[in-house]
Parts: sequence; structure tokens; C-alpha cells
Amino acid sequence: MCGIIGISSDKPVSASIINSLKKLEYRGYDSAGIATLSDGNINEVKSKGRVSNLERNFDIKNLKGNIGIGHVRWATHGIPNSVNAHPHSSHNVSVVHNGIIENSTILKKDLINKGHNFKSQTDTEVIVHLITENLKTTELEEAITKTLNQLQGSFALGVVFKDIPDLIVGARRGSPLAVGYGPNENYLGSDSYALKSMTNKITYLNDSEFCIIKKNQINFFNDKGKKINKKILELSSNELSSEKGDFKHFMAKEIEEQPTTVKTGINEYIDNVNKDINIFNFPWKIEEIKSITLIGCGTAYHSCLMAKYWFEEFTSLDVNIDIASEFRYRKIRFKKESLYIFVSQSGETADTYAALDLCKKNKMKTCAVVNVIESSIARDSNFVLPIHCGPEIGVASTKAFLGQMLILYILALKFGSLKNEIEKNNYQEKINDLKNLPSLIEKTLLVDNDIQNASSTFNDAKGSMFLGRGFSYPIALEGALKLKELSYVHAEGYPAGEMKHGPLALIEEGMPVVVLAPRDSYYKKTISNMQEVIARGAKVLLITNKSKDEVISENIWETIEVENTNDDLLPFLLTIPLQKLAYYSALKKGYDIDKPRNLAKSVTVE
Ligand code: AGP
Repeated sequence: MCGIIGISSDKPVSASIINSLKKLEYRGYDSAGIATLSDGNINEVKSKGRVSNLERNFDIKNLKGNIGIGHVRWATHGIPNSVNAHPHSSHNVSVVHNGIIENSTILKKDLINKGHNFKSQTDTEVIVHLITENLKTTELEEAITKTLNQLQGSFALGVVFKDIPDLIVGARRGSPLAVGYGPNENYLGSDSYALKSMTNKITYLNDSEFCIIKKNQINFFNDKGKKINKKILELSSNELSSEKGDFKHFMAKEIEEQPTTVKTGINEYIDNVNKDINIFNFPWKIEEIKSITLIGCGTAYHSCLMAKYWFEEFTSLDVNIDIASEFRYRKIRFKKESLYIFVSQSGETADTYAALDLCKKNKMKTCAVVNVIESSIARDSNFVLPIHCGPEIGVASTKAFLGQMLILYILALKFGSLKNEIEKNNYQEKINDLKNLPSLIEKTLLVDNDIQNASSTFNDAKGSMFLGRGFSYPIALEGALKLKELSYVHAEGYPAGEMKHGPLALIEEGMPVVVLAPRDSYYKKTISNMQEVIARGAKVLLITNKSKDEVISENIWETIEVENTNDDLLPFLLTIPLQKLAYYSALKKGYDIDKPRNLAKSVTVE
């Protein structure tokens, strides 16, 4: 996914654009670029790598112009280099783009036949020349409408014009885009985070809409080029600042924030007066819901898998889960009494949004569990359950994972209560246990040295396994994903009971294996699986909960103990050491922890 910014102002814009691009880097950081308009010219500068390279390579401060666009790229078509970096420009049009143009090849052929010269390997450059071609015969709004109708695929666009140097055009289909209102200037941005440092008043474009932004006026149009009115939102103010503060990395800050964010989530949904859970204005009667399908990608999918165990524990509901990129192409037997829950930190993940769109087209009940309440998935679902974690900037998701699990746990408990399938006292007890969770997370965060020491072994190994059963299995998957995405070493999460059906062959002398074995109902079986891998030479990092009983096994390389709580809540605590293990592994390798290679914070392309 990429990041877009545009500013139309009564003063020079290059510094503000660069500052906004730095805030957008979590959306993509293969390359960056900026284009401003001044003295009848398009001033385009671009560079490979980070925005800081752009600043270093060019004299950005002297880049003139009170109107401009900027872009940070996560490559889809064309390798990351300065030629493929955005903006892309013709002699009179310059464009930044987030998305994929699916018919770019055929359009490019036609434009080349009409004499257009292409410099890059990107699909985006087709948009530049299409607009340039259409402007030869039509006025601006008609040229834009015509161009958008010729494009197939997804886009969020920012466009400036050499011959119309007082406006920016923005357009959206499938990739998020917002406008912001400032004093004597107005803005275009991929998301609210990019705009927050300049304004707290924004409007989101919906699919097939476009806008024309001047420094003192913004107009919106529908896909037929007809002017439309849209409301101005006040940005949600997050008490958690979106800066690093004293932390070395956003990820470190977001790991440490988890007691606060979990406490915020609990306070949002637990009604202390009535000792009950409040899921505000839930739009359906519980009797209308006979089954649930939870859908997400990556870490969000792991919280779906975790939730399946809880819904099955507390209710008699039929619970399905699916990876969004699989769900969207399945032949689903939609049933009206099903509830579809979409889990997404950013609320902009293309596959998850496409899965939501499929459910909406089939008139299904849809509920979003998101961190960004102004996001597309939130806006287009029937019902939203925010996770209230504040901005999560580190690409590797940490506090949002615990936030997603928390809200799904609370929802499962509430459904059990509404269906009278949880005994009243048990329900109250679980609510009380929940209130202790933030302090237990706080204490678990203190377990640090042993994890730091263990992390080198994972770095030096050619691969590792993360094993768990029952409630611990989704956490094993999440721990392996964290290690993979941060330290670039192979790690595989696996059901502990499945090792003997093949993967045990992978185990060799000195191979690091994380075993999640809290003293829950799966404990004894997981310990015997642990002994199977120890017997074959594995170096086992055992993660369990504190107990007066010794672990019934020897030759365990390291043991990490998390605080005690009821079995349902142990997954929250088991996650913490795994987040730290991945963090310290990457730290020792000197890798970019907040922006791991090849990744982006929210993948808004397929
Ligand atoms: C998490 O560490 C990953 N960066 C990634 O798997 C992420 O969870 C996934 O892309 C889904 O993103 P979303 O929650 O914003 O939809």
C-alpha cells in the first residue's frame, strides 16, 4: 500500500509535504517523491528508499510552489527505484497513486500508439497519459470523469496540472482517500494520520467520487461528474500520542502501551455499575444470530482464530473463521442468520474490505472490529466495535492484536450471557478477572532479560517452531509471524499435537522451539509433545504460567513464566514474551523494526 499527500496553500508547500510523507512512511517505504507547481513548471523530484533520502538527494527546501503532491511507495508494478517512484508526470500533468490499475497494459498500448512516451514500469504512468490525452478534447471535470471510467482496478489519486496551477484533483475507488480543511490551505491524504498534524477536520471520499481542492475551497463530485455535498468530520482525538517519545521504536512503545490500551478497551465496554458488558446499540437480537464467521488477514486472522475458541467456549454458536484473501473467492453458502465479523487494525486491508463487500452484496449482517474508526471497513459495516488502541505505527502489530482479542473476548462473553449459556456467577467472575488483566500484562512486561538472551539463538538458527494447543495455538502462530516479519528468519507456528504427523522430521540438534504450555487443560499433553522435540535435540524455550508445581520435564533450555489468571485470559499474557522475542531478535540484527523490508502497515492492494 502507498501513501499520498497533497496541499494547496497560500504559502510554499514542500516542507509540509515532506513532513507528511514521513508520517505516511508506515504505509510504504520503497521510494518517495514530490511534485510542486511554480512559474509554469512541474517541479518533480523522486528517490529510492526513505523520505530522508529524498531530503538528502535534493534541495527540497528550495523547491518552490504553493501547490504540490507527494507519495511514499510500496511497489506493486516495477522495482523500487527513482524512475518508478511517484509522482509520474507528463509535460502538463503529475499524478500520485495508491492501488492497482488492472487494465494498464491495454491502455498503455493505445496511448503509445497515440504518441505518448513512457518512462517507468508502473501501472500508474498510464493514468498520467490518459488524463493528458483526455484534456486535449475536454474540460477538466469531464476529462477526470472520462479517465476514471476508463480505469479498471483500484485507486486513490492526487493530480496536479501545469496549466491549472491552483488546484489538486483527488479521486477514490477501493483505496482510502480523505481531504482536510486548514487555514488558507486545504489537503488531500491517504488517511487521517497523515492529516492529523495539520487539521482535525476531514472528509472521506467514497468509492467513485472525486474532488477538486483549492486553497480556500473544496468541491466533491460523483462518478457522473455531478457536484455533491459531503459532511466534515472532527478527527477522533487519541489520548495516546502518535509519537515515539523516549522509545527507540514505535514497536517498543506499542508493546509497553498494552496495559493502557487493554484498560481503555475494558473501560469502554465494561459497565461497572451493572457489572455487565455494554455493546452499544448492537443492531440485532441475539436470536437472529445462529452462526458467526470471523474474517481477517495476518495478525488479525490470528485474533479471529483465538476468538473461535472463546465463542465455542461460551456459546453454542457455530463459529467459522477464514483468511480474507481466501474467503473473498470461496463459493460461500450465505445464510441470513449468520453474522460476519471483519477484524482489521487499519480498517483498510483490501482483502478484508473485499470480503466485507461480498457479504454486503449478499445482504449479510456485518460487524467491524477495527482500530481506525474512520476507516473504510468501519464505515461500510452495519456495526463497529472499536478497539481503542490509538495509532499503531509499527508495521508489526502488537497492541492492536491484544486489542482485537480483547474486544472479541468481550463479545463472546456477551453473546454467551445474552443466550443464557454462561451461568450468571461465572459471567461476573470472568468480568472481574478481565479487570485485573492490565496489571497482569504490566507484570508480564517486566520479564525481559531471559527473552533478550534467548533471542540470539533464534537469530543464528536456520529456522524455529512455535508450538501450542487449544487457546495457545493461535498465539503460537502469532509468535512465529512476529519473528518472521521482524528478523527475517523462518519460523513456523504449529499445533503441538500435529508435530508427530510430519514436522517432527524438521527437529535437529540445537533447533530453537518455543513451546506454549500454560497450566490449562492442555498442559500435560503439550508437555509430552515438548518432550518429543527435546528428545530429538531441540532447544526448548518453554513459556508457561507461574505455579508452585515444578514443570514435569528436564533438559528444557529456558523457561519463561507469565502471571497467573483464568485459562481464557492466558493467551493475552503468553503473547507478551513472543512480541519481545521478535523485537530483540530484530534489534540484535540491526533491522528496521518499525518498517520491516517488503512490508507495509496496511495492505490496500490484493
Ligand atoms: C501484523 O504484524 C502484520 N503486519 C500483518 O499481518 C497485519 O496484521 C495484516 O496485514 C492485517 O492488517 P489489518 O489488521 O490492518 O487488516
